[in-house]
Amino acid sequence: MSTRLPDFELETYFSRWEFAAEHHLTASDAESMSLSALLALGTEEDREAFDQLHLGYTPTWGTPLLRQTIADTYDTTESEDILGFAGAGEAIFWAMQVFTEPGDHVIVPFPNYQSMESVPVAAGVEVEGFELWSGEGADLEWTLDLERFEAMIRPTTRLVGVNFPNNPTGFVPDHETWLAFNAMCHERGIIVVSDEVYRGVETNPANTIAAAVDINPSALSINVTSKAYGLPGLRVGWVASHDREALGKLERAKHYTSICNAGPSELLTVIALKNSSTILDRNRQIVASNDALVTETFAAYPDLFDYSSPVGGCVCFPRYLGDDGVDAMCRDAVENHGVLLLPARIYQTDLGPIPNDRFRIGLGRTNVDQSLAAFVNFLDQR
Ligand SMILES: Cc1ncc(COP(=O)(O)O)c(C=O)c1O
Repeated sequence: MSTRLPDFELETYFSRWEFAAEHHLTASDAESMSLSALLALGTEEDREAFDQLHLGYTPTWGTPLLRQTIADTYDTTESEDILGFAGAGEAIFWAMQVFTEPGDHVIVPFPNYQSMESVPVAAGVEVEGFELWSGEGADLEWTLDLERFEAMIRPTTRLVGVNFPNNPTGFVPDHETWLAFNAMCHERGIIVVSDEVYRGVETNPANTIAAAVDINPSALSINVTSKAYGLPGLRVGWVASHDREALGKLERAKHYTSICNAGPSELLTVIALKNSSTILDRNRQIVASNDALVTETFAAYPDLFDYSSPVGGCVCFPRYLGDDGVDAMCRDAVENHGVLLLPARIYQTDLGPIPNDRFRIGLGRTNVDQSLAAFVNFLDQR
């Protein structure tokens, strides 16, 4: 594994602007909550356990209670099928490199969260991009085209790294396509690394697809408290898989990075997951009402925006039609008006050109109305 990773474009951009811009209109997570609000969701026993917690190391796999609570969020897993990580980022970092070796072929759909491709590229495997769309311009549709995917499979294809609901597009395949995709990969010995961090806040719950671990014996489902749950400060992520040998490999890799999760965060994650329907219902409602507001607001600017609601997750990737181009518009918005959006170029990749007339907007926060008002003010002043 080479340690020479390229700059992580999205995280570098956020590092510059996330806490400097006044209006964060491209947040990738749902609204967070305070420590006391989360503790209030727990039982008296939970709060007592948190108060009395001994701040020593915890098991690399995660505490038995954490693993069992995570296992209970799936249909088919036991606690032994779970391995904790420090956020989804660490899980992706290892899952995208420990199962492959130079000479292997890896397929990664795009646009994507950059580590899915940069990590295996740095590890020396051949990474091939798979476009998550068909058509272009006004006719573009996000899609998982199985025929196109099947045509890319080689005898050396070892792994595919997917992310549904997708960041940045909000795309989610339909149930049949997702089942067929997993079956195709499993039958051919291709590991599906499935980043499911946005699963659970689909405004239409019928669009929530199965976790890969529940439909594919060799898949690895990655999840975290950061996005749908809105608790990124906990930094607790995990991998769920029925392939315990694969989990063992990942556990040994984790000894080189975080070693174990933070004990207080593990306990708080247990409280969050035990109250998942309360938290996810709240966040789903926030996304739904922001989506309605953005739909209505952008409809007043038909010459500037072509907006479609996300199928899942709390981000989406509308078109910008203005003559200045999306990059100049986003730069002007953040530099001169304090409104942060993510222009398509942040998702540019060596895997191939992406639709470059798009920008990412976030629908998960309760202050989207204010950020949107600031954005409209900026549009009207130009
Ligand atoms: C699709 C996707 N996967 C993984 C991550 C990393 O999540 P975490 O902050 O939990 O490490 C992000 C963060 O933006 C993301 O958008």
